[in-house]
Amino acid sequence: MLKPGAGGGETEQPSPAGWWQPELKVPEVLLSESVKRLHASIEEEWDSVERTACQTAASRALWKHVIHDPLAEILAGEKHLRSSHGKMMADRLNNAREISGVMLAVRTLWFDSKLEAAVESLRAFGEAETQVVLLGAGMDARAYRLKCLKDSSVFEVDSQKLIRMKADLLNAAAAAAEQEGSFWPEVRLEAKSLTRVGTDIREVDWLETLQRHGFSLQKGTVWVLEGILYYLREPHAMHVLRCIAANCCVAPTVLLADFMNQHSTSLSRSAFHFYSDWPEELLPSLGFSAATLSQIGDPDADFGLVTDPSNLFNRLRRVPRTAETDPEDGTPCRRLYLVHATGSPTTSPHARTHDGSSSTSSSSSTSSSP
Ligand SMILES: C[S@@+](CC[C@H](N)C(=O)[O-])C[C@H]1O[C@@H](n2cnc3c(N)ncnc32)[C@H](O)[C@@H]1O
Repeated sequence: MLKPGAGGGETEQPSPAGWWQPELKVPEVLLSESVKRLHASIEEEWDSVERTACQTAASRALWKHVIHDPLAEILAGEKHLRSSHGKMMADRLNNAREISGVMLAVRTLWFDSKLEAAVESLRAFGEAETQVVLLGAGMDARAYRLKCLKDSSVFEVDSQKLIRMKADLLNAAAAAAEQEGSFWPEVRLEAKSLTRVGTDIREVDWLETLQRHGFSLQKGTVWVLEGILYYLREPHAMHVLRCIAANCCVAPTVLLADFMNQHSTSLSRSAFHFYSDWPEELLPSLGFSAATLSQIGDPDADFGLVTDPSNLFNRLRRVPRTAETDPEDGTPCRRLYLVHATGSPTTSPHARTHDGSSSTSSSSSTSSSP
């Protein structure tokens, strides 16, 4: 039950000097008893991977000068807002080159911009009503904040527990705001429809579950796999990617996904499992017709947030992708790849693809090549 309102879409202009809040202002609605109780149960009952959904929402909330996500604070909860704010404050005080959360902010903006372009490309290909599937959707609120989804049926897929909690939190916050007269952001559903699907995508039949909730294999689809693949073990991640790739033969398909390289998984051996050092080669081998790769700081993954040439991301971009360690300081090259892949039911190798190109190529990369 969300109150109708003006809806979002506009992003405040970046104002690097003015956006920093030394004191965190926790929205009143997060302090209401019902909402506090729900967030307390998240801390008690969710596993560490599920809780990452609140952490990423907290980053989106705190980078609000570049990301328009009015539900992010409510979905993140006070604990995660305070923890993320503390890290940002420490980085500011230490004059760090990278402020905590900048990678998440760039990643969000990259997915937003590629999603908008993908929906547009499918429309140009004759797919008037597209589907957008967010696998491991967590506390994502794109269905409420992106106007480009007005003709799209959006499916948010995550664990049963998370899907139920997300709806409960939004309802409790709206009810508390109404009863207590506290501030509630003006949001409305921007997508044509939103269907929440509670399922474990490690199950072999996860795609059938999605179909039972109204997903059609015949319609053009954008798959958004943001912050999910590396939490899966290799057989599960590959099964998910193979299912999506197989659908390229049936309907125009766009995949947007972030991949860790092998060294990145050493940041947490217990949390991170799946990796690919060359996802732009892996995806075509599964059936996608083209894949392009970006790194944080590349022209399409910068958004004015990664300008210092000596920050970690720009340094990494200068190191060849075949290198194991950064020659400057000997640290392992830990990379996050942002990957855009397409596929469509083509009858000839020279048939037009839905990104408008006439393509026989299997892969390409916008980033530093081996
Ligand atoms: C880092 S969060 C990312 C959430 C969201 N995509 C974002 O970027 O804000 C990872 C999400 O993946 C979900 N997830 C992890 N393993 C999953 C699985 N096997 N099935 C469904 N969801 C899963 C978690 O519950 C969590 O919400």
